[in-house]
This record gives sequence, C-alpha cells and structure tokens, in this order.
Amino acid sequence: MATNKTLLMLPGDGIGPEVFNQVRRVVDWMAKNRSINFDLKEGLVGGACYDVHKQAITDETMQDALDADAVLFGAVGGPQYDNVERHARPEAGLLRLRKEMDLFANLRPAVVFDALLDASTLKPEVIQGLDLMIVRELTSGVYFGEPRGMQDYNGVERCIDTQAYTKAEVERVAAVAFDLARKRNSRVHSVEKANVMETGIFWRKTVTELHASGGYQDIELAHMYADNCAMQLMKNPKQFDVIVTDNLFGDLLSDAAAMSTGSLGMLPSASLGAADENGQRKALYEPVHGSAPDIAGQDLANPSAMLLSFAMMLRYSFGLLKDADMVENAIQNVLKSGIRTGDIMAPGCTQVGTTGMGDAILAELDKLVG
Ligand code: NAD
Ligand code: IPM
Ligand code: MN
Repeated sequence: MATNKTLLMLPGDGIGPEVFNQVRRVVDWMAKNRSINFDLKEGLVGGACYDVHKQAITDETMQDALDADAVLFGAVGGPQYDNVERHARPEAGLLRLRKEMDLFANLRPAVVFDALLDASTLKPEVIQGLDLMIVRELTSGVYFGEPRGMQDYNGVERCIDTQAYTKAEVERVAAVAFDLARKRNSRVHSVEKANVMETGIFWRKTVTELHASGGYQDIELAHMYADNCAMQLMKNPKQFDVIVTDNLFGDLLSDAAAMSTGSLGMLPSASLGAADENGQRKALYEPVHGSAPDIAGQDLANPSAMLLSFAMMLRYSFGLLKDADMVENAIQNVLKSGIRTGDIMAPGCTQVGTTGMGDAILAELDKLVG
C-alpha cells in the first residue's frame, strides 16, 4: 500500500483476545512478507473496558473507530456482566460502534470448505459447495427502536421493544444485497414476516419497489417468511445466493447458517457503511461468534472466523485481493491437512489449540509466499 492505513484493533473479552492474538501474528507476517504496513491502534471494548471505565466503550475509542480506515473486532460479553445495566453492558459497546459508524450492512458469508464436509451436522450432499451471503440490516429494527423499556400499563408492569424501519433504511440495505447478488449468482431472497408484522409488509413492499424501479430487474427476487427461511437453511441451503433481512432475523439466521460450515468458529463478517465520494466505506470486521465463556482462557477457540474476517478486511477495505486469497487459502490448506480445533474435530484429524492453529496457518502462509 502506498500510504499507511490506520487499523483499530479491539480484542474485547473471553476468546476475543485469544483469537485476536492469531490475527496479530498474521498482521506481522503481512508486514514482513508482503510489505503491508498498517498504523496499528488498540483500544478497550466490552467487559475489558467496563472493568476500567465502567462503560463498554469510551468516547476516545469511539473517535478512534470513526477516524480509522478499518476496525478489527474480537468479541465481547461474559456472564460476570449479566447484572450490569443495559447501557453499560459489554454488548452496548459493539452496538454503539455499529450505530455511530452507521454500519448498516452486515455481510455474513457462509461458505462450506470441502475439507469440513464431515464437520457439519448436515449431510455432505446438502452442503457441499455452499456459498451463501446473508446481508443483515445492522443499525435499526428492534435493536434500536423507541420506545423501549419498562412501562406502567394501566397499573400493570409491561416491557417494550420497538421494531421500526424507515423506507430509506430498508432501501439502502436492499441495494447492497442487489449489488452483491449481481457479482454472484444474481438471486436475492428478501426475508421478513409480512404475514404478521406491519414492518414485514413494509419491508416486502419497499424491496419490491426498489427491485422494479432501481434498475435491478436482472436480479431474481423472491420473498420468504423468516420461519420458513430458518427451515429451508437446514433443508436445502444451496437454494440461496443472497439473503437480505432485518437486524434480529439476520442475527438468528446467520447463527443457523453457520452450522453448515461446521462451526460458529468458521463464520466471519463485515459491517459496512455507505460509500463516500471515493468509494470508501466505514467498516468493522468481526467473527460472528461471541466471547464463548464456556471455552475461554483454555486455548481451545477456533481462530478461523477471526482470520477470515481479517481477510474480508483486506478485500473490502483495502482491495488487497491477492493477500485476502492467501489468508483464505492458508486456512483451507490447513483444514485439508487434517489439523483442526476441537469444534471441527473429526476422526483421523489432529487436534490443536488456538495457538497451534495459528502456527499451522502461518507455516502455510510461508509456503504460499514461496
Ligand atoms: P458464543 O458465540 O459466544 O458461543 C456459542 C457456542 O459456540 C459456545 O458453545 C462456544 O463455545 C462456541 N463457539 C463460539 N465461537 C467459537 C470458536 N471460535 N471456536 C470454537 N467454539 C466456538 O455465544 P453465547 O454463548 O450465546 O454468548 C456468549 C457471550 O458472547 C454473551 O455475552 C453474548 O452476548 C456475547 N456475544 C458477543 C458477540 C460479539 O461480540 N459479536 C456475538 C455473539 C455473542
Ligand atoms: C452478533 C451478536 C450481537 C448481536 C450482540 C453481541 C450485540 O449476537 O453480532 O451476532 O446481537 O448483534
Ligand atoms: Mn449473534
């Protein structure tokens, strides 16, 4: 890269810092072997920030995120924060980043590597060759709708969350899905519950209108109810190319799609904002999984989702396609060689920990660079 780009690193909690340590090694490797030099900044987020500042992200770190060329995020959360008020909980740090950076389009690809056909709970023939993209709306819907919270409802205690979408919010995420589909297999499934929800009816109408009037007639558009979509993802996931859906349904459906790939530890994501006049987007890259308290601190976590998120960053934010391919190929080759973390372990394979997986991926990168 001609000029150094700023990369803000936010490892977070639980397995976040563990998988992040493997990314640091690949960042160093890229500097040494590929002359890709980032200006690295690091910050606290989630419980790690709460422990020091009693909030899930500070204004300074938020500003660093807004100023960075890309943000790389590990995971946040943990049972020790279960009783912290919502606005200071670890998850609030991530939600603030998404909202203030206006990262409305969350790309969650589910790609099945041949080497992991045996790791999924689904039959090999159902998932072989699967390559689907879930585009999840990320800055609105029930995650952010007002009013929310406790209410006195005629003397009865009641609690409210609000699902709300503006036309512009639906249009901009649907446009991202159509544009992505055009570079893939030109098919979009728009997913909601128009059979029961007002916002579902509105979502379907808005997507249909944009499809017709926005120059997207070359894209095949289908509509599907979210409950059916969950079932179809288990039954026949290969029917999908791009799925576009709201914030909450996208959260659920992407965890479900993850199991086709063998493990939540395999699923990366990119959260993108609107393109500026130079085509640059604010962006945050993170694995789909959380802080996994059940395996944290034991060198058990699969770092693949984190490293694949880094590869997405190289590709989407910096146009470093060859280097992104290299990271992805290194991971695939390691899996092919039978080296596995516990979550994707299969008979005849060799089990390694988080660091061991990092060792194997770096050795493979060395081979690929020649
Ligand atoms: P989780 O994703 O942390 O874990 C779900 C299951 O998947 C666990 O059994 C875990 O061991 C396993 N798993 C997840 N990542 C793995 C990996 N890389 N390698 C191997 N196994 C892996 O979800 P959860 O248990 O529901 O949530 C735990 C905490 O994480 C909560 O506080 C939650 O709010 C938070 N969370 C954060 C994010 C995020 O930071 N983006 C995402 C999801 C959940
Ligand atoms: C995710 C997580 C987050 C979400 C939480 C941690 C706020 O589950 O990124 O999938 O619900 O969006
Ligand atoms: Mn989730």
